Amino acid sequence: MPLTNKEKTLIEDNLNAEYLCIRKYEQYASMSSDAQLKQVFSDLATKEMEHATTLKGILTQNGIAKQNIFESYSKPQGDLSNMQSDIGITDAQLLNDALITEKHVTSSYNTAVLESMDPNIRKQLQHIQQEEQGHAETLFNAMHSRGWYTVS
Ligand SMILES: [Fe+2]
Ligand SMILES: [Fe+2]
Repeated sequence: MPLTNKEKTLIEDNLNAEYLCIRKYEQYASMSSDAQLKQVFSDLATKEMEHATTLKGILTQNGIAKQNIFESYSKPQGDLSNMQSDIGITDAQLLNDALITEKHVTSSYNTAVLESMDPNIRKQLQHIQQEEQGHAETLFNAMHSRGWYTVS
C-alpha cells in the first residue's frame, strides 16, 4: 500500500529528528568530560543511526529519495571536553538537553504511530518509539544518579 501524505510527512519529520539526534549525540560524546557519559552518548548515536536507516528505507521503498539537509555530516574527532569552559556548557546541560530531545522525539513518534495506515509501518514505528522511551530512561538515570534530576 502506498504511503499516505500524512505518513510521508510524519516519517520525514521523524527522519529529520533522527539526523539531528545523530549529530547531537556524536557532538555530546565528544564534548562531555565523563568517560561513562561519552559511552552513553555514542551508544545513543548508534541507535539513532539504525532508526534513520529504518525510516529512510521506508521512504526509499516508496520512491521517495529526498536528501535531508542534516543527512550528510562529518563527526567530531577526539575529545573536545576542553571547550566546555569556553562556551559555558556542562555535562548536566548536555544530559538535560538530550533528555528533553528524547521526550520530544517520543511524542513525535506517537503521532506517527497513530497516523499509520500500513500495519507493517505502524509496527516499525512502535518499535522505534519504545526504544526512544528507553533512551529517555537511560538519560534520566544518568542524570538522577549524578544528583542532577531531583524527584521529590
Ligand atoms: Fe531515534
Ligand atoms: Fe533516541
